[in-house]
Amino acid sequence: MLKDKVVVVTGAGGGIGRDFALAMASKGAKVVVNDLGASVSGEGKSAGPAQKVVDEIKAKGGQAVASTDSVAEWEAANRIIKTAIDAFGKIDVVVNNAGILRDRFFFNMSVEEWKAVIDVHLNGSFYVARAAAPYFKSQNSGRYINMTSTSGLVGNFGQANYAAAKLGIVGLSKSMALDMAKYKVTSNCISPFAWSRMIGTIPADTPDQQARLEKIKKMETAKIAPLAVYLASDAAQEVTGQIFAVRANELFLMSQNRPLRSVARAEGWTPETIAEHAIPALSAHFYKLDRSQDVFSWDPF
Ligand code: NAI
Repeated sequence: MLKDKVVVVTGAGGGIGRDFALAMASKGAKVVVNDLGASVSGEGKSAGPAQKVVDEIKAKGGQAVASTDSVAEWEAANRIIKTAIDAFGKIDVVVNNAGILRDRFFFNMSVEEWKAVIDVHLNGSFYVARAAAPYFKSQNSGRYINMTSTSGLVGNFGQANYAAAKLGIVGLSKSMALDMAKYKVTSNCISPFAWSRMIGTIPADTPDQQARLEKIKKMETAKIAPLAVYLASDAAQEVTGQIFAVRANELFLMSQNRPLRSVARAEGWTPETIAEHAIPALSAHFYKLDRSQDVFSWDPF
């Protein structure tokens, strides 16, 4: 499905990204395996993880090169795309997958924790996508696949930085889909559920949390890859501006914000009439303070 496509997968040294790189290479893509080789919180650097995935791809007869640049800096993000051009002569697909976590309750979150997560997820997705944009525009084709999360789409405790970044990515992805549509470029989001080292950092102190974690452990990272391969392919030309979720053998099309209900008064609103009329009329449709696990409340299939 991806014969001779040139793909950049960021954060592909482990977890979901590694499976994206392996699956895309197995379908004929030439892959830039980008990974800084950092810890879950984004500290440190190692060329090991990216090179190991390149070696795995080559051992199976595929084509790949390693890149250890950080997505979180503009110059470095440009080098990631240039690695594809230098090694394979073009760029067809960008998968914005690199990520870190710095969880902390909002009232304790430091500016550094906020900025580090926004930098890798939101700024990093913009930088790498933007670096590829001139190529996509001039060749009249291209694919963006951007990783979001139900931590942003629904909610989660202790992830203000991550939720803001991941919802920001949804807005970025839709904007790229709109602005690049005339160049036949598509942009979609995937919200995955899978057991990775990132999820392994979630605190599980209570029996309830431990039971939830045991369920997550059964969800394999490789289960996310088929959707990414499809979205990267020519078969997905008409699929753009969407948010998908994948949980083991379940695929979801996620909703997007639209008006739910409206009320109007010919004379306009005062704070008092909002309290007496608007809120009682609208409140039946308010959302509860749901977290991801409240919405995805059944066992993965
Ligand atoms: P992971 O921690 O296994 O993989 C992330 C990779 O990104 C790591 O190999 C890391 O070294 C790399 N990375 C970190 N900072 C980087 C930087 N500045 N430049 C280049 N590479 C960098 O985590 P996982 O679970 O595989 O996550 C992949 C994506 O999926 C992330 O965007 C994550 O937010 C998203 N996601 C994962 C979920 C899950 O259930 N595993 C749930 C929701 C979203």
